[in-house]
Amino acid sequence: MTAPIRENLSGLDLRAEIERLRKERNAVILAHYYQKPEIQDLADFVGDSLELSRKAAETDADVIAFCGVKFMAETAKILSPEKIVVLPDMDAGCSLEDSCPPEQFKRFREAHPDHIALTYINCSAAVKALSDVIVTSSSAETIISQIPESQKIIFGPDRHLGGYLNRKFGREMLLWPGVCIVHEAFSETELLKLKAQHPGAPVAAHPECPPHIVDHADYVGSTSGILQFAKNFPGDTLIVATEPHIIHQMELALPEKNFIGAPGADGNCNCNICPYMALNTMEKLYLALRDLQPRIEMDEELRLAARKSLDRMLDMASGTVGKGDLGRA
Ligand code: 13P
Ligand code: SF4
Repeated sequence: MTAPIRENLSGLDLRAEIERLRKERNAVILAHYYQKPEIQDLADFVGDSLELSRKAAETDADVIAFCGVKFMAETAKILSPEKIVVLPDMDAGCSLEDSCPPEQFKRFREAHPDHIALTYINCSAAVKALSDVIVTSSSAETIISQIPESQKIIFGPDRHLGGYLNRKFGREMLLWPGVCIVHEAFSETELLKLKAQHPGAPVAAHPECPPHIVDHADYVGSTSGILQFAKNFPGDTLIVATEPHIIHQMELALPEKNFIGAPGADGNCNCNICPYMALNTMEKLYLALRDLQPRIEMDEELRLAARKSLDRMLDMASGTVGKGDLGRA
């Protein structure tokens, strides 16, 4: 899938080299919570999709090294076109983005001319350009509550997030049939077994999970919302139904507590590691900072069209991180 590294980097102190290049390039390293711990540990900022978009929009660095997936790095480029944006592995995609080819999405929109398109940020720039408002999981609730109930909506590409919002807000948004392969893989049977082994341990789930997982959750929210819940819940054990690399931040903040990744069908939570996020490595981050490649490039007309729906998100979500989350009261 992805090109192998042809150089021998084994003699290098990668951490030190990345530090050196970060200064030399006046670069900022942004990382999503699903990145490997060693990348999270050296990032200037670790966050959820909305927080990372905001950081990308406001940074005064010359280079953004984006340790996440392609749609996130593209978002950074859309919001900060004058910056060089590098993604350590250009094959770091997303099953939600793959599920939603722009031509098909355009036809879906055209078939429903009286609907607006509210679109999850996990999509291509071309799909953003065809959308009215972008949402992230931490801004969706605040944004949907600003849209009149009489307004018809199509929601894509995540049918589980869309379904969760429909149930919570009594909406009837038409849903694009995409799923996240990572959150889709959690097993209800294994989750119930785990709950029985840890009676009283709450479950925190991402809304990309299907309803049979979300229905067992005590808290449903974005990665930053789940992290906040982990910092505040009174018990000593938490079951975490999202990509397990976020547990690194929980263990750093609360070393005395026990965080258990919800299992997949084989009872082994490793099947819930995002294969796209995992493509980024220290070696590739070093090479990206050294060579300023692979770089996100975008046609200006497409960028401006995609920016409209992203700006609308940033405006509608402003001042709401944390309290505007999808978390259940
Ligand atoms: P958030 O970090 O915005 O909750 O999104 C999760 C995700 O799937 C990123 O790909
Ligand atoms: Fe996409 Fe799911 Fe990976 Fe997030 S965790 S990048 S939604 S495949």
